[in-house]
Amino acid sequence: MNRGKDINIASKCILNGDIVVFPTETVYGIGANCFNIEAVNKIFKAKNRPNDNPLIVHISDFNMLNKVACDINYLEQKLIDKFMPGPISVILNKTDDIPLCVTGNLPTVAVRMPSSDIARKFIAMCDTPIAAPSANVSTKPSGTSIDEIYEELNNNVAYFLEDEKCDIGIESTVVKVIDNTIHILRPGYITCEDLKCITDNVVYDNKTIISPGMKYKHYSPNTKCILVTDDYISKINNLDNNIKIAVMVEEKNIDKLIKKDNMYIINLGFSYSDIAKNLFKYLRDLDNLDIDVCYIQELKNEGIGVALMNRIIKACEYNSI
Ligand code: TXA
Ligand code: MG
Repeated sequence: MNRGKDINIASKCILNGDIVVFPTETVYGIGANCFNIEAVNKIFKAKNRPNDNPLIVHISDFNMLNKVACDINYLEQKLIDKFMPGPISVILNKTDDIPLCVTGNLPTVAVRMPSSDIARKFIAMCDTPIAAPSANVSTKPSGTSIDEIYEELNNNVAYFLEDEKCDIGIESTVVKVIDNTIHILRPGYITCEDLKCITDNVVYDNKTIISPGMKYKHYSPNTKCILVTDDYISKINNLDNNIKIAVMVEEKNIDKLIKKDNMYIINLGFSYSDIAKNLFKYLRDLDNLDIDVCYIQELKNEGIGVALMNRIIKACEYNSI
């Protein structure tokens, strides 16, 4: 069996040039020794990931930082001091040692130190930084437990290092300092307000040139999803009765729905943290239900809601009513 809790086996696979799925506090990663080009290429193949979409390099401690990044400026250092270890990836100038296949040919590298103990122990035991994107086939929602992703990745992965379901459930906030301003390239669990503890100069930035990953289809189940905005409860209550639908709504809204035979209700949860923890699993589960369309209520675009809406809008492939 190539899954279990053995960090020893997992790190031996990495040193062997193979790839390993491992837990972090955000989502599971699919990792390789970042200095081994052949191993890194196995990640792109396993995920069917476009080569210009760069990987995040994961470190276990601050001693590993200078193996991957250089010329760190004042604001970047403040981000590192305040938020690492934690669910943030900071784009920094890469060292010459980091192969260009890791960074999609960019001169920069995304660096992340997970707060998950198991993740850091695993990386420390490998004694090398680990290049790892989220563990999922490209276009699918990221995996938050091994069960969600085992089948789709099993053929190409040497070992699945198993832990509980990920605490946070959505990916890290990706940030880059440009001209003394923090640019949020991908919203995540660390919010704009959190980042403002460091400087008031924080902006959302979804220019695809800076973060190549943002231009690709992502988080999409096979089932068609549609975002329902504004007066979403009455829109859902007035939907066509002829097709089998699922609706994803916050717990507080369930009682307001008019229940119908052809409607499958998915309770997103109470707090936005609950929603983050379960969203990707709920999206994946849709493909096992016998439904034609899933309608997802909009969330408030503030705090972690910004990151959740970013994922939901993509899951819906920009369709909304
Ligand atoms: O929480 C996470 O970040 C998870 C866990 C496993 O650490 N990883 C993750 O990786 O979500 P991935 O590959 O699915 O997303 C990485 C994002 C992509 O949007 C990519 O384009 C961006 O980070 N990125 C990576 N390196 C970059 C760089 N040098 N410049 C700009 N964007 C970069
Ligand atoms: Mg991903």
